[in-house]
This record gives sequence, C-alpha cells and structure tokens, in this order.
Amino acid sequence: MRVRHADFWAAATRPEEIPAAMGPEIAVAGRSNVGKSSLINRLAGRRRLARTSSTPGCTRGLVFFSLDRNVTLVDLPGYGWARRSQGERRAWKRLVEAYLADRSALAAVLILIDIRRGPEEEERMLAEFLDAHGIPLTWVATKTDKLRRNELRVRVGQLAEALGRPPVVTSSRSGTGFDELWRCIDDAIEAARHGERFRA
Ligand code: GTP
Ligand code: MG
Repeated sequence: MRVRHADFWAAATRPEEIPAAMGPEIAVAGRSNVGKSSLINRLAGRRRLARTSSTPGCTRGLVFFSLDRNVTLVDLPGYGWARRSQGERRAWKRLVEAYLADRSALAAVLILIDIRRGPEEEERMLAEFLDAHGIPLTWVATKTDKLRRNELRVRVGQLAEALGRPPVVTSSRSGTGFDELWRCIDDAIEAARHGERFRA
C-alpha cells in the first residue's frame, strides 16, 4: 500500500498523557531492538518517521503516528532491556498495560520477534494478556534479511510451530513481507470497524 500521509501525532510517557483515539489503532510491540520503529517507518514508507537506533531502549514512551484513512500506528517502548532499573520497568508496565487494557480503538497488536530468537517469556506473557483482553494479535518475524534462504525456511518453520501459527515474515531493510503485513492490518481494521472490537 502506498501511504501518502504519515505524521507524528502524540507521545505519552505517563498513562495520563495517552491521548483520546482518533481512529483505529495498530500497536507494535516487542523486545528492545527487535525493529519496532524500523517496521513503522517501512509501513509508513518514510525513512525517519520513528526514531531508530542500534542501542536498545531507543523508544521510551508510547509514540502515536497518524497515517492515511485515519489509521494510527502506535510504537510501544521495548521490554526486556536489562539495563533498566526496577522502577523504570514498573513504570513501563504501568504505561503499556494502561494503554492495552483500556483502548477500544485498538484493532490489533503486532508482536515482533527477531527471526534469530524464538518467542520468550515476555512474548508469551504479552500474548496471554492480549488474549485475556480479547485483543487480536499478529505475530511478525523481523530482520529476516540476516539469514540465508535455507536457514530462514527452517527458522520460520520452528517459529510457526512454537507460536501455533505462522508469523508474517518481514525485513524492514528489504521490504519483504510488507504487502502481507498491510493485508493483516487492513483485515484487523475492517473487523474492528464491523464491531468485533469497538465498543462504541
Ligand atoms: P527500541 O525502541 O529500543 O525498543 O528498539 P526498536 O524495536 O524500535 O528497534 P529499531 O527499529 O530502533 O531497530 C533496532 C536496530 O535494528 C537498528 O539498528 C535497525 O537498523 C536494525 N533493524 C531493524 N529492522 C531491521 C531489519 O529488518 N533488518 C536488519 N538487518 N536490521 C534491522
Ligand atoms: Mg523503537
């Protein structure tokens, strides 16, 4: 999909700062450095809409980007960053859970997993949390350009088995998988618009 309009809209580092939704939202979650902000840039077709860095912990709060057709992408701060203090981790959990648990505009959460790692405790806990709240989720494998084709096929098979369904296989560097990812997003938004998700 060709995105014509993509803009930074809002940021929140505390639950009180979370803005009222403008339209359906797709949140992007996953551990630090997995490639959330890079994926948002690729979805938006912009190089530097969301800030990216090779240093984990780049995105600290919730960052909202508005796209065409009133769709909002939400960059969630990464979890599992070892150097964070206990206090910071608690604040992270409070912020992310406050958002996820009470957002009727949330059409789906993309959970990103680095193709070279499997799903770990945090991904499983997040998936359980989303299930418990009736929030649709899509598994997305990232950085697949880092593997050779044969290795990639094996890893995708293992990941599908571990997750119980196949992930969308992407590379934000090459653009692989983004047509499929847009289809998943469009389907989730369509389902949400038909009341499967929106309470209002
Ligand atoms: P935090 O904000 O710290 O949680 O990280 P993030 O998940 O937003 O990751 P970010 O998009 O900042 O990317 C982290 C690093 O991985 C950067 O150096 C990116 O250039 C790199 N990266 C992201 N996606 C890809 C990809 O598809 N392929 C390759 N080779 N590198 C990638
Ligand atoms: Mg980021």
